[in-house]
Amino acid sequence: MGLCLGKSSAKLAHASSGQFSDNNKSGNGSTTQNNSSIVIVNNNSGSLCNALLASKGLSSNLKSFTFSDLKNATRNFRTDSLLGEGGFGYVFKGWIDENTFSPSKPGIGLVVAVKKLKTGSCQGHREWLTEVNYLGLLRHENLVKLIGYCSECDDKLLVYEYMPKGSLENHLFRKGAQLMPWSIRMRIAVDVARGLSFLHSLDANVIYRDLKASNVLLDSEFNAKLSDFGLAREGPRGDKTHVSTRVLGTRGYAAPEYVATGHLTPKSDVYSYGVVLLELLSGKRAMGDENAGGAEETLVDWAKPFLSDSRKVLRIMDSKLGGQYSKKGAQSAAALALRCLHTNPNYRPPMTEVLAVLEQLQVPREVSKILSRANKEDSVNEKFSPHRTMRNIRQSR
Ligand SMILES: Nc1ncnc2c1ncn2[C@@H]1O[C@H](COP(=O)(O)OP(=O)(O)OP(=O)(O)O)[C@@H](O)[C@H]1O
Ligand SMILES: [Mg+2]
Repeated sequence: MGLCLGKSSAKLAHASSGQFSDNNKSGNGSTTQNNSSIVIVNNNSGSLCNALLASKGLSSNLKSFTFSDLKNATRNFRTDSLLGEGGFGYVFKGWIDENTFSPSKPGIGLVVAVKKLKTGSCQGHREWLTEVNYLGLLRHENLVKLIGYCSECDDKLLVYEYMPKGSLENHLFRKGAQLMPWSIRMRIAVDVARGLSFLHSLDANVIYRDLKASNVLLDSEFNAKLSDFGLAREGPRGDKTHVSTRVLGTRGYAAPEYVATGHLTPKSDVYSYGVVLLELLSGKRAMGDENAGGAEETLVDWAKPFLSDSRKVLRIMDSKLGGQYSKKGAQSAAALALRCLHTNPNYRPPMTEVLAVLEQLQVPREVSKILSRANKEDSVNEKFSPHRTMRNIRQSR
């Protein structure tokens, strides 16, 4: 059993007693490319890649960057360009020309995020391959766009669209982060549900397998997108109920039956979704939040007794919200989280249903944008007030 520890999260990676088969075990792959498009043939995600190609007539159109291009685009991977660190490497901010994709000067052209994998990580290499195979094929407004990649000897890099507001994790948990209001939290919940529904609706029945707050990235208007497809897999098809895999994912987010058996289904993603929804409601981390049950207790263990008692359910709510949320909305979202977290995966709702429920609760997007703008304009000491911002909305008409 191997355990990879990320900066802020504990990644699970163990071979479960040998009885589970996993296409992702070998890690060997070969890359061929012509102009800016890439075809990767490998034993890992090849079957998923083929399934996606067959089901949607999709084609990948990724740019192949040289290492020197990306070195120049990020000013030699300077520390002041560092956006973040994950278990498998560092992410840097860079600039490229919008048309030619050649490196440009800071502040000119297209801003990108360049993920540079640490050398010598087999799991990192496997995830790099899957990411290039998958994300190059998938396009959706709630998936982070992969622009290109670099593969030179041991240097493996990925180039993504830049998400200016960073990760949901930073907004919810970083010390000193500005309060994220209720309306935005609910919008993010809807966006994430939409991204997962899209993946599950594909003929290849894609399972994302790594949903967590650090993989939900936010654009300048707090639209949320899923990033990191390194662990994604083709789901069960026909009369199969699950696919068998090595257990990979992140502690506190991975579904219990998956951790115990290696049996993976789209309902494993639904469980992780329930955890992220709980994080949005409570402002507490999935794992190791001292304010929840301490380092060892998961957020789910802590929250479940409250969730299943309608009189106590609001006790899980983030105190930083200062009560500024719809009680009915919060109760419905908490009830939905409880369903997603059911120990029996068969009782968890499909993502399409989760999305439908949340869309009902959501503050309309335009209203929520005005609310968040008004909130930003408020002085730091003033509490967010929906009544005042409703007045602002009327005035702005
Ligand atoms: N496209 C992007 N735009 C802006 N910031 C990004 C982008 N991709 C990643 N980041 C930043 O870099 C951080 C690290 O990301 P990374 O995916 O490497 O690791 P992680 O998701 O935090 O952890 P893990 O390796 O366990 O998945 C993110 O939390 C985010 O703050
Ligand atoms: Mg990530």
